[in-house]
Amino acid sequence: MGYLAGVARFPKPAEGSWTQHYPELGTAPISYEDSTSPEFSELERDAIWKRAWLEVGRVEQLPRNGSYFTKELAVAKTSIVVVRGLDGEVRAFHNICRHRGNKLVWQDFPREETSGSCRQFVCKYHGWQYALDGGCTFVQQESEFFDLDKADYGLVPVHCDVWAGFVFVNLDREPSQTLRDFLGPLVGALEGYPFDQVTERFSFTAEIPANWKVFVDTLQEQYHAPIVHRNQRPETFDAPMQVYGFEAPHYQLDGPHRMLTTPGILPWNLPDDQVKPMERLVRSGLFGPWDAPDLGELPAGMNPGGCDPWGISLFLVFPNFGIQFWERGWYHTYHHWPTSPSSHRFELNLYFTPSNNARERLAREMAAITFREFALQDDNLIVAQQAMLESGVVERFPLGDQEILCRHLHAVVAQWVDDWRNAPAAV
Ligand code: FES
Ligand SMILES: [Fe+2]
Repeated sequence: MGYLAGVARFPKPAEGSWTQHYPELGTAPISYEDSTSPEFSELERDAIWKRAWLEVGRVEQLPRNGSYFTKELAVAKTSIVVVRGLDGEVRAFHNICRHRGNKLVWQDFPREETSGSCRQFVCKYHGWQYALDGGCTFVQQESEFFDLDKADYGLVPVHCDVWAGFVFVNLDREPSQTLRDFLGPLVGALEGYPFDQVTERFSFTAEIPANWKVFVDTLQEQYHAPIVHRNQRPETFDAPMQVYGFEAPHYQLDGPHRMLTTPGILPWNLPDDQVKPMERLVRSGLFGPWDAPDLGELPAGMNPGGCDPWGISLFLVFPNFGIQFWERGWYHTYHHWPTSPSSHRFELNLYFTPSNNARERLAREMAAITFREFALQDDNLIVAQQAMLESGVVERFPLGDQEILCRHLHAVVAQWVDDWRNAPAAV
């Protein structure tokens, strides 16, 4: 059975399956109407995107007082600017000038994100100025206005908090939970990971013609791996998968969040004919640079199932943020930002410890582009899936036990939409 033979098997929960361990999920076939209906997407906008904590960047993107970046949040019909103030505090504001609504911070193209460093924000239209704490500090020809008090015209703040160096915002007027309460124990247990040491970043984005949940689903189940990624892996791993399929050893849910683990594998011990010459040369491939940095003791929360050998853990932070840790001392993140009911912007960021020489740099690039190819294989497939889901020909789809995280995502989305519909304020 190849590498699976050496992997400790984790008995499924006593109830007999991962899914039945969470009886509230049920086992019935599910609808994908939530991924095709424009009306449902409108509900998601208010019920989820304007209420959940959303991860928008890393503190390393704000290295100095005065550093800022913008984030386009088309799904909430806004743009925000996140800035480290002159007092060192990280704050977020809607990116709109209080005079006549111009987008305040942008460079050459108004719809593109930007970043930089400044001591104040100046509107490109009539020159109003704002301090980095949001206060309006200057109005051109102020005396021509009527009873205007600059104190009433500060930037509109957005709730903002930082966890483990990740900057989150919440567009709700009054978030119902603090960020830490929202993240809960499963995600909170990742806090000790040395994110501040793993900072060499490679970024990719793609416009995907599929609903955001359809893509999340393909990343959060491994049932498809032997088929979609066939022949991407070395023969030693691939051949047994073709016969036996693949089973991840641990799944776990916590509130709206979820995770899965896959076993450890050792690509650097493979026979020569299964490793590309370039991979051997730069000592890197799909599983990352072969030489792992010493990151010290890592938090046990990365591997809550205690899987040994441990290889990968993927945490899906509701609604659209994924963090995947690799045994070789690196991690990557996913974001899915809806742009319409049937499209979204996909962001992939891969993080490594800074390279010390050219070979290490090439090793990181090799890992980054190899993994990107994997992600693009999924991406290509879901375009086809979205097209046929929209036909509406089939109403219910059966999910296997290893598709528990997909079942969970759709259940949580439905729950948030129901909660919002039933909330007194929505009436
Ligand atoms: S719209 Fe910004 S100064 Fe007029
Ligand atoms: Fe995949």
